[in-house]
Amino acid sequence: MAESDLQKVNEIATEIHTSLPERPEVFAEKFRLFPKGCLILDSDGGAVGYAISHPWLLNSVPPLDAFLNALPEPAHCLYLHDAAIRPSGRGQSAAKHLAAQLRTIATQENLENLALISVYGTDSLWSRFGFSTVHEPSLAAKLASYGPTAKYMVAPV
Ligand SMILES: CC(C)(COP(=O)(O)OP(=O)(O)OC[C@H]1O[C@@H](n2cnc3c(N)ncnc32)[C@H](O)[C@@H]1OP(=O)(O)O)[C@@H](O)C(=O)NCCC(=O)NCCS
Repeated sequence: MAESDLQKVNEIATEIHTSLPERPEVFAEKFRLFPKGCLILDSDGGAVGYAISHPWLLNSVPPLDAFLNALPEPAHCLYLHDAAIRPSGRGQSAAKHLAAQLRTIATQENLENLALISVYGTDSLWSRFGFSTVHEPSLAAKLASYGPTAKYMVAPV
């Protein structure tokens, strides 16, 4: 992802995450803090999807639509904050390639785990790539801000 892609990222996010909106500034901050973890999916020259990840702590859920301010030192995992693909770009194994790319980035950053919050019932998809749901009562309140389908999932790198 380049900084100039952020406008497209916001367009795709607005289209797909109608029930989980986030401000453009929140995406921009994550790009500024960890551009390496921000990825664009191109199709015929146009962006059809994106993923945003950053180093984070295990068993810790950043609230939705909030600033991180800084990345933790040390971090324990590469946290996939968001992945969204327009319907026209789906069904071409992008999720599988994304999981592989996240593992490459995590390895380069000496992070031993991947983490994410599954929404919209995607837990069965993420479990194909080694993610398991973590049932941690202390996460319940923050998970709730991601809607009723939210599950915190972790995978070893
Ligand atoms: C999730 C998403 C990024 C996956 O992208 P994709 O291009 O469809 O992924 P892939 O082609 O790698 O995988 C497709 C498989 O995932 C499955 N899948 C897609 N969305 C799913 C969902 N919501 N629940 C369960 N499985 C899902 C498809 O059924 C398909 O299964 P198949 O291989 O048996 O046919 C994309 O569907 C998307 O942007 N969805 C809306 C936003 C979203 O859910 N983001 C993730 C939040 S954690």
